[in-house]
Amino acid sequence: MTDLTDKTAVITGAASGIGLAAVEKFVEKGARIVAADIQDDKGKALETRFGKDTVRYVHCDVMETDQIAAALQTCVDAFGGLDILWNNAGHGGSPASVEEFDPDGWDMTMNLLLKSVFAGTHLAIPHMKARGGGAVVNTSSISAVCAGYAPVTYSVAKKGVAHFSKLAAAELAKYQIRVNAILPGFIATSIFGASLGLPREQADQMAEMLAQNGGKIQPIGRVGAGNDIAEMAAFLASDAGAFITGGEFVVDGGITVGPPHSWNEEAAGPILDALGITPEQAEQMAEALKQG
Ligand SMILES: NC(=O)c1ccc[n+]([C@@H]2O[C@H](COP(=O)([O-])OP(=O)(O)OC[C@H]3O[C@@H](n4cnc5c(N)ncnc54)[C@H](O)[C@@H]3O)[C@@H](O)[C@H]2O)c1
Repeated sequence: MTDLTDKTAVITGAASGIGLAAVEKFVEKGARIVAADIQDDKGKALETRFGKDTVRYVHCDVMETDQIAAALQTCVDAFGGLDILWNNAGHGGSPASVEEFDPDGWDMTMNLLLKSVFAGTHLAIPHMKARGGGAVVNTSSISAVCAGYAPVTYSVAKKGVAHFSKLAAAELAKYQIRVNAILPGFIATSIFGASLGLPREQADQMAEMLAQNGGKIQPIGRVGAGNDIAEMAAFLASDAGAFITGGEFVVDGGITVGPPHSWNEEAAGPILDALGITPEQAEQMAEALKQG
């Protein structure tokens, strides 16, 4: 089992969804955590739930670099150091298409999703050097590798997060600081409602609805949960992941895998169509091949 005993961590976006699951997972595995977010009521509830010796909440808008610095310092002051930083806070960002373009929306989205990751990683370096090393985990997205899952600005920012993680890994390995990116697929959280501008309560309700109805999107047959991503992050952040850095880890229930091979009659895939072959003909051809 992944063990985080005696590790200390800052997790951003910790009040909801993937970040909340991360707090629960990391506590279960023995870590002490600074939970950073802008949803203060939910964040403070974490202190009540787990106790301040285990979880400290700080109000931290990751678009403000000094607030990220303060969150990291809180971890050092409260728990004696910083071993793990998970740059996770996020939002759908600007919905503008390429044809529309929204320069202010672009800047806001890049600041929130990409600059914050750069700033957080940069600010963690002295703290992690003081510990003899550390682990940074950055939340990217499958929208970094495929079109169709998120608006263009968000997707470009998430591609940046993945590539930044690789570059930072190359630079920081000499300090035993590892940097990895996780690319979640469709995870039933409030981000979808929040990105549509719904009030948080309604966004939270939408997350529950997605959890019930979103299973068919993934080949694996169920919707993703924050816990699925938190498990990967815990592994990467733990000593079990000590040889892993600069990686991009897709956790998506198979969405990006694509359909089965189209000679499979159940796939009715695009290649069959392009070849003008019906599923029945494909079956006969496959049978003939088997018989030599
Ligand atoms: N849910 C998915 O399907 C999915 C897929 C790929 C990537 N992601 C990424 O996962 C991360 C977590 O999202 P989630 O799905 O758990 O959504 P969520 O809305 O449940 O949680 C996001 C959290 O980030 C916080 N946040 C937003 N702006 C902030 C800011 N400026 N400063 C600090 N905190 C801020 C929110 O208050 C919220 O608690 C995001 O980076 C998101 O882009 C999500």
